[in-house]
Amino acid sequence: MGYLIMWSIVATWPFALQCVQKGSAILRSGGKALDAAVEGILLVESDPKVDSVGRGGFLNSDGELALDAAVMDGDTLRLGAVACVRGFEHPVLIARSVMEKTKHNILVGVEAERFARDVGFQEMPDEYMITELAREYYRKEKNKPHTTGHDTIGCVTLDQFGSQGVAMSTSGANHRKPGRVGDTPIIGSGFYVQTGIGGAAATGLGEDIMRTCLTFRAVDCMRHGLDALHAANEVILTAHKTIVSCGYKPDCMAIVCMDRNGRTAGAANHKGFAYAEACDGTEPRICQVEPIIDKDS
Ligand code: GLY
Repeated sequence: MGYLIMWSIVATWPFALQCVQKGSAILRSGGKALDAAVEGILLVESDPKVDSVGRGGFLNSDGELALDAAVMDGDTLRLGAVACVRGFEHPVLIARSVMEKTKHNILVGVEAERFARDVGFQEMPDEYMITELAREYYRKEKNKPHTTGHDTIGCVTLDQFGSQGVAMSTSGANHRKPGRVGDTPIIGSGFYVQTGIGGAAATGLGEDIMRTCLTFRAVDCMRHGLDALHAANEVILTAHKTIVSCGYKPDCMAIVCMDRNGRTAGAANHKGFAYAEACDGTEPRICQVEPIIDKDS
């Protein structure tokens, strides 16, 4: 008989180790799935060294830092998301407020900012939110064509009560047009979770991830009995091949999955993807992913 996992957490990219450490402390002490995912992501949003999430993230083609985030509660299928939010350090908390304080799922742009002010979030100046490194990168790269891939943080959790949750945050792809929304705040593309079935979070180029509804498909695979590893591999392979069959070259796509039993896995269509994970039997650690198919070969 397999070992019964009591709690579990998985999140995209090695920079998520701090998220997984924080989240696993919460889950270990009996905290709730969504709290663990959100609290973990707060650390990454505040970390100016992470150049693709929150403070210090990539600027859009106007040189602005506009952030996307989302949360989803696997017990109720309720979600909250924000897109293109400027001047707030924690878009994931605003997303959570959309879920908890409104009847809506997604708020965008200046109206999302107005909502954030109305519910009491403090605005932060550009001098704090935008790092010198991000400005330098913007100046160097701004005349180059749209670049590839993107390192979103997405975190999926299972708590000791059996509930599952997911939280997401990103600055969006670099060189994005102002107003562009990627997959991160879009349910079924950037994230999906259903307690008792499983959860998934995506990272990579949002345009390709949205075209293939990556995370809904992954959770659907788990609904039909696949474990996290087989679901992750299946959806990346299928999404990649589907885009090829439509006559396009796929960009970077990667996913982390957690099944109903708390087992975790990642898959990617490119080299270099890694994720962080922990559960009651495993201390926080980084796992490297061998591409299931390689977009560059
Ligand atoms: N995956 C994040 C984005 O494309 O914005």
